[in-house]
Amino acid sequence: MKRVGLVGWRGMVGSVLMQRMREENDFADIEPVFFSTSQTGKPAPDVGKEGVPPLQDAFDIETLKGMDVIVTCQGGDYTQDVFQRLRDSGWEGYWIDAASTLRMADHSVIVLDPVNRNVIDEALDRGVKDYIGGNCTVSLMMLALGGLLEKDLIEWVSPMTYQAASGAGAQNMRELLSQMGELRDGVSELLADPSSAILDIDRKVTETMRSDGFPTDHFGVPLGGSLIPFIDKQLDNGQSKEEWKAQCETNKILGRSDNPVPIDGICVRIGAMRSHSQALTIKLRKDLPLDEIESIVDGANDWVKVVPNDKEATMQELTPAKVTGTLSIPVGRIRKLAMGPEYISAFTVGDQLLWGAAEPLRRMLRILQE
Ligand code: HSE
Repeated sequence: MKRVGLVGWRGMVGSVLMQRMREENDFADIEPVFFSTSQTGKPAPDVGKEGVPPLQDAFDIETLKGMDVIVTCQGGDYTQDVFQRLRDSGWEGYWIDAASTLRMADHSVIVLDPVNRNVIDEALDRGVKDYIGGNCTVSLMMLALGGLLEKDLIEWVSPMTYQAASGAGAQNMRELLSQMGELRDGVSELLADPSSAILDIDRKVTETMRSDGFPTDHFGVPLGGSLIPFIDKQLDNGQSKEEWKAQCETNKILGRSDNPVPIDGICVRIGAMRSHSQALTIKLRKDLPLDEIESIVDGANDWVKVVPNDKEATMQELTPAKVTGTLSIPVGRIRKLAMGPEYISAFTVGDQLLWGAAEPLRRMLRILQE
């Protein structure tokens, strides 16, 4: 049984990881050791088995060295601080990490096994020890398009994203709700009066949104009642870092960085809680009938499912409200575009904390036990 060190298990991604590991009975097959950056010596969480030691110091290289595998959701600063020191100390265990720090490193593989199990297996054979979770938007897009990517049917993709607050962090989710509450509270009397004028309500909402007291510490600007068309850092080429990740990470995940599929679009933060949505414009390498495209998309893995391109099914099935908290990856609005028979649209939604973050990590841990 592998000794598995878990770091950052109390944060948002870590908590979702713990929940999934409990649901799948993962703790039965490992010897878990929980680490903490602040509560060394306190009791470990209950994972349904005896003999789990108290919390260990997450910065103690000697204790970390005793692990066969380390799974961290502690974040990029922790990885930056600890990873290299641990490797320099001679540790040769497996490092499974949710943070982006090591994603593009030569010595790492980005894990998304329903799509790149072959790349993972080949890396394990080569002795690669660093397995990193992908960007949430990228992983969710790739699960949705897995069938078309596997058959190399995609010439390029332009994803326009609708990203949830959770991608920015737990505090951002709270801030979104506070913003929504303030907008509503500012017009509660007018709302209660059915004869009030909607343009008066709108004017007050806009005034509230623009007022100095409106809570924007985390997003910097209003998101509730608005949107933010820039995510992550600004790069010199005009892309946001989130947009840059799409092509780089997708092609690394597929093991085709030397022959990349171009992927580029605009990433937008919207007022959803934890499911990212993406509108995809895809140029196929050839003109395929729609039913064949749908069957390739639908058959790629156990979680993707095609939603028929009709209004009722789309409204019921293809929304964050429906998908959040599930592993389902619905793909709908598939149709040929006016640009020509090789051009198709698609729309997909996925929970950015499940397949977008925690699930590929726990599955990689499982793969190490095979
Ligand atoms: N960077 C993503 C976002 C989340 O801001 O939505 C995590 O990959």
